[in-house]
Amino acid sequence: MPSALFTPIKLRELELANRIVISPLCQFSAVDGNAQPWHRMNAMHHLASGTGLLILEATAVEDIGRITAGCLGLYSDENEAALTQLVADARTMSNTPIGIQLSHAGRKASSRPTWELWKGPNLTEEEGAWTPVGPTGEAYTEGWPEPKELDAQGLTRIVDLYVDAARRAQRCGFDMLEIHVAHGYLLHQFLSPMSNHRTDRYGGSRENNMRFPLEVIAAVREAWPAEKPIGVRSTGRDFNEGGLELDDAVVFARELKKLDIDYVVPSAGNVAPGMKLPKIEPGYMVHFAERIKREVDIRTMAVGLIVKPEQANQIIESGQADMVAIGRAFIDDPRWAWHAAVALGEENPPIPPPWQRVNPKVWPAYKMARNEKSDLEAGMGHMRRE
Ligand SMILES: Cc1cc2nc3c(=O)[nH]c(=O)nc-3n(C[C@H](O)[C@H](O)[C@H](O)COP(=O)(O)O)c2cc1C
Repeated sequence: MPSALFTPIKLRELELANRIVISPLCQFSAVDGNAQPWHRMNAMHHLASGTGLLILEATAVEDIGRITAGCLGLYSDENEAALTQLVADARTMSNTPIGIQLSHAGRKASSRPTWELWKGPNLTEEEGAWTPVGPTGEAYTEGWPEPKELDAQGLTRIVDLYVDAARRAQRCGFDMLEIHVAHGYLLHQFLSPMSNHRTDRYGGSRENNMRFPLEVIAAVREAWPAEKPIGVRSTGRDFNEGGLELDDAVVFARELKKLDIDYVVPSAGNVAPGMKLPKIEPGYMVHFAERIKREVDIRTMAVGLIVKPEQANQIIESGQADMVAIGRAFIDDPRWAWHAAVALGEENPPIPPPWQRVNPKVWPAYKMARNEKSDLEAGMGHMRRE
């Protein structure tokens, strides 16, 4: 019997071999939005780990929608060619489905990558700063760029950009899309009362705040092949007083269900300064996914400090979520899924054939390498060929 974590799941026509998903992880290493050798290396590492799905990082639908100058894009033919090549290379090595997260940074664009934040959060003019767009002309906070407020034409343009990017993603060969409505980027900026102070039909009430993200998502769903899934990274809570709460996330998920969205992965925060964070402990956001799943009857993916195989398995087994998205644990250990399979007693850990010699069935030092008491240490080591 496979463990719950290693039980397959189907999203529309897409089969995931297990419930482990590599969460989108910005690399801030693109040039003009184009994937580089670094992205290929990163994707290959992750694809070799035997997860059910890999979702590539937040990828901007226009150049001024990049968080940093190093973010991936899917707004030019060159961007499309680079990602087409990456997907083609990946297909020669792995059957793991590959998705991509479509994003627009809105007023949080023109920032520096994490490793340069010590210089300050935003690019300077000399470094090529640009004017972002936002729901209103309000900056994220003092010192951040003042965005240009999106007018009716601007909103239509953004919807079209998402649709174009989705069509490009289809031509690249991606298996699924995730749409980013979290972490304070453009669609979250519309959704949250912390950042949306519009007075037209796109702001001022929960219904109005949801309107633009839902219009974008509906347009993308329409443009994306019917057999391929779309997930939404939503916001479980803003963690700001007066911001989005879990009740809002449930209402939003109901709307996503109406749009035939395949799963919701509720994350949180970063739409406005002054967050009051809860205790950040393993699985601290799993209850978002659990409540949405229970009340909305939509599939959910839990995310946030999911680190241990037993913890991940428990989330699936107990029905709190249908999948787990894991980020940093995979940067730390790109073989996390193999190790999880062994820890959970799976018969066949998902190790690619050329690397099967590290399967614990044939490598007596496996446990030693994991700092566990091994047969070798116990003096019973012998080479087996199975
Ligand atoms: C380096 C890094 C880059 C990230 N990039 C993205 C991203 O592109 N899109 C996104 O939705 N979340 C992004 N996140 C958030 C992760 O996907 C994930 O939600 C978060 O790290 C919590 O999961 P973890 O505890 O398993 O790492 C990023 C996180 C890290 C550490």
